[in-house]
Amino acid sequence: MNSIAVKDLEKTYKGAIQPTLQGLSFAFGEGKIAGLLGPNGAGKTTTISILCGLVRRDGGDVRIHDLPQDEAHREQLKKLIGIVPQQIALFPQLTAMENLIYFGNLYGYKGKGLRTKVEHYLELFGLEKAANKEVHKFSGA
Ligand SMILES: Nc1ncnc2c1ncn2[C@@H]1O[C@H](COP(=O)(O)OP(=O)(O)OP(=O)(O)O)[C@@H](O)[C@H]1O
Ligand SMILES: [Mg+2]
Repeated sequence: MNSIAVKDLEKTYKGAIQPTLQGLSFAFGEGKIAGLLGPNGAGKTTTISILCGLVRRDGGDVRIHDLPQDEAHREQLKKLIGIVPQQIALFPQLTAMENLIYFGNLYGYKGKGLRTKVEHYLELFGLEKAANKEVHKFSGA
């Protein structure tokens, strides 16, 4: 199974004189870590935005975990995608634990299942002791 497979992706922004993406194809197997490299304006953000469902593609095929990116799979796909934007996107006045609970809720986790996941990730990132600290008090670097 591929975690991401893109074939012949096309995107031309409205009013643009040339396409941003033309015939872009790539695929990554499950568990692979990959990066997109390219000069300013090459279309990296556009590609990621299309993969996340934030920008509509004009043509081509996108599959996440072999699921086609169409209306019928929209909700299922959203649950498979996590994104860390360039600008920090946590609630600064909430603690690490409260942020995790909030975002876990958005992904549909509740009750004991949610608590187990929150504890797992706090431990995975060595943040157990900082669980109840407000995020704005964390070091930025
Ligand atoms: N919302 C938009 N409307 C119109 N044109 C856009 C829009 N977003 C990006 N573009 C144009 O599409 C092209 C690709 O932009 P994109 O931001 O995807 O490139 P990038 O590889 O992420 O660049 P950078 O390295 O600067 O982050 C650029 O020419 C940009 O001006
Ligand atoms: Mg970019």
